[in-house]
Amino acid sequence: MRKILSWTLYNESVDAQILPVENEDVPEILEICAEALAHVDNPDRIKGYLGKATKWSLSKKCVLNGKIIGAYLLNEFPIQVMLDDCKRLFKEGKFSVCDFEDYEKYRTLRGLHGLALVVLPEFQKIGAGKKLRDVPLHMGYDYIWGMHLETLKNIEQWTNFGRKVLGKFTDDEDETVYITVMDLK
Ligand SMILES: CC(C)(COP(=O)(O)OP(=O)(O)OC[C@H]1O[C@@H](n2cnc3c(N)ncnc32)[C@H](O)[C@@H]1OP(=O)(O)O)[C@@H](O)C(=O)NCCC(=O)NCCS
Repeated sequence: MRKILSWTLYNESVDAQILPVENEDVPEILEICAEALAHVDNPDRIKGYLGKATKWSLSKKCVLNGKIIGAYLLNEFPIQVMLDDCKRLFKEGKFSVCDFEDYEKYRTLRGLHGLALVVLPEFQKIGAGKKLRDVPLHMGYDYIWGMHLETLKNIEQWTNFGRKVLGKFTDDEDETVYITVMDLK
């Protein structure tokens, strides 16, 4: 039965569309984020943070048979601001694996910040995540960067995709966070 369901979903995923986010989609997309990231934080904190930080006009949703099944939340927060903060953390011994030489090049480039890539659990592993993940490759920006909690255990999946780890630090809640970047031009 599970095989039949997977096969059906796999075929349907071919039809899954990537579309811009409309204002009325925002509450539903935040609920999807809260559900997909339930193992990371509580729903209100997830929705509160992403609701404020996301630039919705840049973000994309994935729609299957009229239903939103996932989204890629993005903004244009520049990596330089984060990196300057990392230099301070580095001096305090709280930041490691950094390559400050490489950092400098991003100062003059136009970047995207990937905030959250999510697909509803029942629609995962059928290609929707991949479709969404590929969106920034064609948006005309110079690079995309992101932060990844070590507890998500997915840093290898991001580096296999092409993200480079610039560094890692320990946040205020004692969690290890990786910073990754990927050149898009
Ligand atoms: C990440 C996520 C969107 C992937 O969606 P999906 O529909 O299962 O992915 P697909 O089957 O379309 O694509 C699989 C690809 O995604 C990658 N992937 C799967 N889970 C991943 C994860 N948690 N983080 C990063 N990449 C992931 C796989 O390595 C694979 O890459 P490859 O084809 O280059 O080998 C989905 O697992 C999810 O919503 N997870 C919970 C939220 C989360 O942890 N998001 C990432 C951090 S914001």
